[in-house]
Amino acid sequence: MQIIDGKATADEIKKEIALEVQEIKASGGKIPHLVAILVGNNGASETYVANKVKSCEEVGFHSTLLRFEPTITEDELLLEVRKVNDNDDMDGLIVQLPLPDHINPDKVMEAINYKKDVDGFHPINIGRMAKGLPAYISATPQGILDLLERYNIETSGKHCVVVGRSQIVGLPMSILMQRNTKIGNCTVTLTHSKTKDLSAVCATADILIAALGRPEFITAEYVKEGAVVIDVGLTRIIDTSKKSGFALKGDVKFDEVAPKCSFITPVPKGVGPMTIVSLMKNTLLSAKGIIYAK
Ligand code: GUN
Repeated sequence: MQIIDGKATADEIKKEIALEVQEIKASGGKIPHLVAILVGNNGASETYVANKVKSCEEVGFHSTLLRFEPTITEDELLLEVRKVNDNDDMDGLIVQLPLPDHINPDKVMEAINYKKDVDGFHPINIGRMAKGLPAYISATPQGILDLLERYNIETSGKHCVVVGRSQIVGLPMSILMQRNTKIGNCTVTLTHSKTKDLSAVCATADILIAALGRPEFITAEYVKEGAVVIDVGLTRIIDTSKKSGFALKGDVKFDEVAPKCSFITPVPKGVGPMTIVSLMKNTLLSAKGIIYAK
């Protein structure tokens, strides 16, 4: 059994990005600039956005954090999105989810210029990804592809079971794993809350991607001997023994599942650090005009 070290892989990729930024600076090119919009004060969102801004600094990007009160109206927020769209210095824009209930997230995602949609949530990017055209691929699925590639995990012809059909992870992951690409060519089963005999289906997976957001849901009976298990879960559990007051739990019951696996990602330091790095990669691609010409 090998533990996939997402933190070490993410650090490696960050160094590669930082080096490229130095080269861009030296040649007087465009320094990538990421803008994050944060509405309200959801604790987890605060942490995620702070980590994104910190990562920008680490690799040498410019970053702007735009914070708004939870009372901002949908129209006001759409106006802010358009301001970023129109600012040529800003290469990427993410609007941290979830948004307050009175704001329709689909409307906001669609208002982002798809050429700056480094989260890959705009319908144009999702559609282009599904067709296999150049597109921004959302950060968590891209991070998982990078981990599979860097650990030389064979995917072709394998049965990949994805648990959870979220727009951010499960749905794009299922599309990406079936594509005719180096990391792809899987036979994919996308499972969800209405799937019958979920444990039996999961137990047929060569590659099991757990993205359902229920801590320690995937136990040993869900996992075939020798499977590759990717744990996307990241739920905060109250834990008074911790300084922060909470512990982070994945969707996989690591201690009993790990001994059965060929490869497994831990939580934390598995998929999580890769997500932010993928966002950095997309921002760099945007600044360089690689996916879409400037
Ligand atoms: N909320 C949870 N994950 C994400 C993400 O990847 N991007 C954004 N914008 N919001 C999120």
